[in-house]
Amino acid sequence: MIRYEAGGGIAVITIDNPPVNALGSGVLEAIEAGIARGLADPSVQAVVLIGAGETFAAGVDINIFTTMTTREQSLALSDAFHASLKNIEGASKPVVVALHGNALGGGLELAMSCHYRIALSSARVGQPEILLGLIPGAGGTQRLPRLCGVPLALDLCIDGKPVGAPRAHAAGIVDQLVDGDRDALLAGAVAFARARAKAGGIRRTRDLSIAPADVNAALDACDDRRAQLGKTATPLLAPYAAVDAIKAAVTLPFDAGSARERELFADCLVSTESRALVHLFFAEREAAKVPGVPKGTPARDIRRAAIVGAGTMGGGIAMTYANAGIPVLLKDMDDAALRRGMATIRRNYDASVAKGRMTADALERAMGLITPTTSYDGFDAVDIVVEAVFEDLALKISTFGDLGRVTRHDCVLASNTSTLDIDALAHASGRSSNVIGHHFFSPANVMKLLEIVRGRDTGPETIATSQKLAKRLGKVGVVVGNCFGFVANRMLLQYLRESYLLLEEGATVAAIDRVMTGFGMPVGPFGMEDIAGLDVGARIREHLRAGGAGTAWPESAIANRLVEMGRFGQKTGAGWYRYESGSRTPLVDPLIDTLASEVSAQRGIARRAVPDEEVLARLTTALANEGARVLEEGYASRAGDIDVIYCYGFGFPRYRGGPMFYADTVGLPTVLARIREYRERFGDYWKPAPLLEQLVGAGRGFYRLKE
Ligand code: NAI
Repeated sequence: MIRYEAGGGIAVITIDNPPVNALGSGVLEAIEAGIARGLADPSVQAVVLIGAGETFAAGVDINIFTTMTTREQSLALSDAFHASLKNIEGASKPVVVALHGNALGGGLELAMSCHYRIALSSARVGQPEILLGLIPGAGGTQRLPRLCGVPLALDLCIDGKPVGAPRAHAAGIVDQLVDGDRDALLAGAVAFARARAKAGGIRRTRDLSIAPADVNAALDACDDRRAQLGKTATPLLAPYAAVDAIKAAVTLPFDAGSARERELFADCLVSTESRALVHLFFAEREAAKVPGVPKGTPARDIRRAAIVGAGTMGGGIAMTYANAGIPVLLKDMDDAALRRGMATIRRNYDASVAKGRMTADALERAMGLITPTTSYDGFDAVDIVVEAVFEDLALKISTFGDLGRVTRHDCVLASNTSTLDIDALAHASGRSSNVIGHHFFSPANVMKLLEIVRGRDTGPETIATSQKLAKRLGKVGVVVGNCFGFVANRMLLQYLRESYLLLEEGATVAAIDRVMTGFGMPVGPFGMEDIAGLDVGARIREHLRAGGAGTAWPESAIANRLVEMGRFGQKTGAGWYRYESGSRTPLVDPLIDTLASEVSAQRGIARRAVPDEEVLARLTTALANEGARVLEEGYASRAGDIDVIYCYGFGFPRYRGGPMFYADTVGLPTVLARIREYRERFGDYWKPAPLLEQLVGAGRGFYRLKE
């Protein structure tokens, strides 16, 4: 874990805890022991601390957080960190830390407790605890402002983004930069340590203070930041705790400020939001493990791709590939469709350039990677085809028949279908083991999820290739089974059904959307349908009506009417909302209320004022109940996969942990009681999933806290 070597007056302590030198249990103690050994050795004049391999410590081992069940435990954990770092900082010989790779979270806190910091120019430092709903709990909020001032400390702790070593050097976090490799860094650190030992005296971060002349500005910066936080709707604890802790660094002596930090850290660590974020951190890593696809399964390289269908999704998928530097052929039926598709792509890129997210050069490079075509010429040279034609089974079957003929035998054949049977497409291609679902989410170039749908015969190599490709495309790939709507849309259909029914009962489109955005969704169910296209949903319902999934699924007379009127959503300027030309701002359209009243009257539903709490409870309960079914039927490997899917596919608020984790926080007995009540009130389509009943019977949730 730790190596100690002394020579030439310098003790070098190397943290060797692969893969990222995380500060797991015992590591800090071992560093302390190493420093004590250096202090006790009269031949040692100074100590150098460095990480083995590619990086300094990238943080505290996050597993530790999952074992904290009470506030007392959390406080004790923070106390222990503080005590260790206080001990290191108190060393009577200079301690120089050498930073390369990442010094993040607890890694940076450790570095700041050392007396001097020297870093490779390529290193990065940061306090990303906020991404787990936490603040630094080992003195970071106290030492950071003493080194770099309050404004940057606020940015680092609240935005969670690391900064490069040159910026950290300019700001005072790093004392000296070194160019070159780790050997050069070590040599530089040893020379620096010798010089410090010779010069005498030690500078400890805890002894620094904000200059009296700067105190008012520092306090103003804290107040401004707090006011800014108040403007965002997200009701999070950690950003406020970070402001309070940093303010304590300005107003209190080091030990008192540290005590304040510990209290705030403990509050955050036991908060539901932090538990949710830590849960997702692990769920995302767990999701990479796929039953039947062992580690080391060969994954093919994807050098060229083709996409069939240049519509909403095909265009977004083409952009995703081009952004990753992969050349794509983009095929549609005729020149007019292609022109439309290419124009949309360019418009989307133009918007990115206008927002400063992309350079004009990068735009041209990306456009240059997308080649429009109306033929299958060149398909024999691609490594993957993604089909994104209309959601129509017969059309997709005929497309997969073509693809089986025009592509190489090892080409992956992926469908972006939202709901249709992957096995039927596999059969049509004549190359079942290469066929897989690559279900992107709208807008495909933005949403991070790739639902990877394995069919009955999909080969492990095709799955492994898809997982590797997902990473390269900047997506989070989650492998699911082949049922109607897969995981995401199968659950979504229940959520939409409930939204449609609420509308017929008297709630408004705007109110339902407001409740869900208030809950933390980026967009409500109706706003989302306007983005995705109401025609897509209508095709799905048509397929279902024809018995496509063998079960009763949501119907919406209102949505059907809108589609008949050509109101497909944003792409036609109107859907559930109306849009002024060129704008994506949804405007309430009284027509919907009129249609809803008509439908309610036809169906004999007495319209009523629906309370916001009922909207939220019904929509989230619909998700949890269907999620439980998906799980017990084995279409998702674990509850965590469902949570990852919802957070990355639909923007379910991460700080609520996903629909399954959220159900646990509501309490499964409450969720089950609601379902029973809804069944009484609304009918038999509300049936508790057997798994839910079992879990409640056993006094369990979807998750079990680690013991
Ligand atoms: P769209 O209607 O915008 O685009 C479909 C495109 O396919 C059109 O440009 C059409 O001309 C083209 N096309 C039709 N037949 C073709 C053929 N034989 N050869 C070449 N091109 C052909 O539809 P959208 O929304 O892009 O949906 C495409 C697929 O993606 C569907 O399977 C849909 O279910 C799925 N999907 C849609 C999402 C959405 O939010 N819109 C989300 C995820 C998946």
